[in-house]
Amino acid sequence: MSYISPFNRYKIFDTHAHYDDEAFNNDRDKLLGALKNSVCGIINCACNSQSGKTTMELAHKYPFVYGAVGLHPEDTEPLDLSWIEELATDPKCVAIGEIGLDYHWDSVPRDVQKANFITQLKLAEKLNKPVIIHSRDANADTFDIIKEYRPKGVMHCYSGSAEMARQLVDMGIYIGIGGVLTFKNARKTVEVAEQIPLEFILLETDAPYMAPVPLRSKRCHSGMIINVARRIAEIKGISVAEVLKTTRENTRRLFGV
Ligand code: NI
Repeated sequence: MSYISPFNRYKIFDTHAHYDDEAFNNDRDKLLGALKNSVCGIINCACNSQSGKTTMELAHKYPFVYGAVGLHPEDTEPLDLSWIEELATDPKCVAIGEIGLDYHWDSVPRDVQKANFITQLKLAEKLNKPVIIHSRDANADTFDIIKEYRPKGVMHCYSGSAEMARQLVDMGIYIGIGGVLTFKNARKTVEVAEQIPLEFILLETDAPYMAPVPLRSKRCHSGMIINVARRIAEIKGISVAEVLKTTRENTRRLFGV
């Protein structure tokens, strides 16, 4: 099958993907069946109650798939903690996410986004779960809320400065790095990868989005993380194996899987 990764000797953990996305409707089972050879784990992230359900269905179908459930800041559905809490008690649900702030389209008023974010941070604390944080064009507000509520978790697809990343790491927050690192205009993300310790980096795809170079126009899947790991290895002057091993340990430390 064309999409089997040639890197079977590596074990990749993808901490952020959306395999319930319609982009995978035609070959989801085939693809996940093939990926199990090169991937040791995937966290599928929900955005609303519907994808919360489909996320946990995938997590039950595939031993190496785990779920994160929460209401995405851009989702217009009203926040309802009951479905989140119910799904989060499932042993295969490892995090609350993705949650956060997104000021790019402003499809949901900012005060509503902030309130939903904070409510879900409090729920995560109550359930003793880490959070997966989405922040787009909203890094300053996201940072302030993290500083105040001190969750344990990861900033997914981190887009802020190296300075802010260092401050987040000081608060115990992990930095999610994906395909963006391989893009031509990735200067800021390269600085982040340079300056923060490998012990605080998590690998992720955001599949089906954000395929790394040289596959940028393709539909993204977890096997492509090897291109991100290679770039981190290059930037830090270490081996790809070390990048995969340490980020795998980081994943276990944060999510317990
Ligand atoms: Ni995502």
